[in-house]
Amino acid sequence: MNFRDKRVWITGASSGIGRALAKSLAAQGANLLLSSRSEAGLEEVAGSVRGTGIEARVAPIDFSLGQDLTPQLEAAINQFQVVDILIYAAGISSRATVEAAHSDVYRAVMEVNYFGLIAAVKAVLPQMTSRQSGAIVAISSVAGKVGSKNRSAYSGSKFAVCGFMDCLRAEVHHQGVRCLTVCPGYVRTDIARNALAADGKPRGQTTSEIDGGMEADVCAQRIIRAIAARKDEVVIAGGIGRWAPLLKRICPTTLNRIVAGRQW
Ligand SMILES: NC(=O)c1ccc[n+]([C@@H]2O[C@H](COP(=O)([O-])OP(=O)(O)OC[C@H]3O[C@@H](n4cnc5c(N)ncnc54)[C@H](OP(=O)(O)O)[C@@H]3O)[C@@H](O)[C@H]2O)c1
Repeated sequence: MNFRDKRVWITGASSGIGRALAKSLAAQGANLLLSSRSEAGLEEVAGSVRGTGIEARVAPIDFSLGQDLTPQLEAAINQFQVVDILIYAAGISSRATVEAAHSDVYRAVMEVNYFGLIAAVKAVLPQMTSRQSGAIVAISSVAGKVGSKNRSAYSGSKFAVCGFMDCLRAEVHHQGVRCLTVCPGYVRTDIARNALAADGKPRGQTTSEIDGGMEADVCAQRIIRAIAARKDEVVIAGGIGRWAPLLKRICPTTLNRIVAGRQW
């Protein structure tokens, strides 16, 4: 797939993987509609790619509100008319044991990672199926394939993303719409710093795994290659993250023991 003149809506575009995707796709000639909460963050990204002959618009949206976002999403995509590719990269993490985590943490994480994805998909799907073309990309995680300690809210939401995308892919397979689920391992972004603690407040500090992770630019390049190759699902990780989803399928008990033995 050639991205020149494609119209790509990226959520989570103000930071990390979403921002890196925006910059890489703009460099390949794609027009961008950028969403997240921070208008200033989105304008900074849009400003950095404007002037290269592409169109870059911003549409601030908060996916955490738990309300019907239909009017807001329709207004956002109306300024762009056609959306060829939706990349849902908005996301929030959490770190707390099941015993300690407040139930609101589970709802807050599901709202952004899962219900926000559904709302965005429903906003673009009718135009994609009627045109018989389009691509929907959801950023899940290795944590959407393998659960581990302290990640129950996050992992649950990412498993839900994988399940939703499998169902969607089956439904639209004959309607010209491609669905890609991306499962990254550790990527060096603000994800751990913004992760919710047991009380629902941001932790405010990163982790050594995230700091030692893949660069967001590298992850973005691999996501773009997977879109171009029309893949259904891709794991983008090094080390144990690369093999854990496969081990989970072929020898789940062994993998479960390895995960239980880790400190994190
Ligand atoms: N980094 C990793 O190791 C890793 C690994 C696997 C999967 N992922 C997934 O990759 C995706 C991108 O994360 P990242 O690593 O790039 O983290 P990040 O740097 O924290 O970026 C998260 C993005 O989501 C947006 N966002 C957060 N809450 C939002 C809300 N309520 N409404 C709208 N937008 C919201 C943020 O923008 P605003 O603050 O402006 O709203 C930001 O643009 C997430 O789905 C994450 O779960 C990351």
